[in-house]
Amino acid sequence: MITSRIIELWNTSGNELGGKVTMPADLHPAPGQYLLARREGAMDPLPVPLFPAGLARSAMTVVPPLPDSWRVGDTLTLRGPFGKGFHLPRPARRVLLADFGTRPQYLAPLIERALAQNADLALFALQPPPGLPAAVELIPPEALPDSASWADYLAISLPLAQATDVRRLLRLPPGRRLPAGQVLVETDMPCGSSGECGVCALHTRRGWKLCCRDGPVFDLHLIEVV
Ligand code: FES
Repeated sequence: MITSRIIELWNTSGNELGGKVTMPADLHPAPGQYLLARREGAMDPLPVPLFPAGLARSAMTVVPPLPDSWRVGDTLTLRGPFGKGFHLPRPARRVLLADFGTRPQYLAPLIERALAQNADLALFALQPPPGLPAAVELIPPEALPDSASWADYLAISLPLAQATDVRRLLRLPPGRRLPAGQVLVETDMPCGSSGECGVCALHTRRGWKLCCRDGPVFDLHLIEVV
């Protein structure tokens, strides 16, 4: 069990609560992994999954939304990290990030990592996050097919309901090979990694998987694409 504290809260442009929590210096959740948080003294029935929206050092910005009842200074108990995260290959030099949900923050820690290894970086997002480094090229939807062919690593985030739609979302013509990459599947996780409720179940080429335990990041070629 890890003790943490909420050190910053803000309203995002989507009017959700974003925030930053303290993090032990030796705890480094990978992009796409998550911690389960409980607010000390609260009777909340379910833990809240906290995904990194930046690389954790002594504090971690988390993917919104946070519960409206959370306040700066509140103490949290954290468990984790859980799940499988993104793994940006060291040799990757042309990286495409594509968010088809509403939370490009899931992909944000990969921006720092990709720039640190001198990769060229393109981003597609329906709602681009503020404060992007100038080195990140924002691309329009019509550039997706060519960018997918250009990239030597592709990271996607999308809602569970669209998990089979990768080809359509990338606008890939029939027959064009899917590039190498990984997909973060956004879903509710009510039982938080215990694998009991099945709400986060995803059918893959290797049968049913649970996003909370086997994901939420999956190899792109494991995702069933229609
Ligand atoms: S959250 Fe319940 S099985 Fe995954």
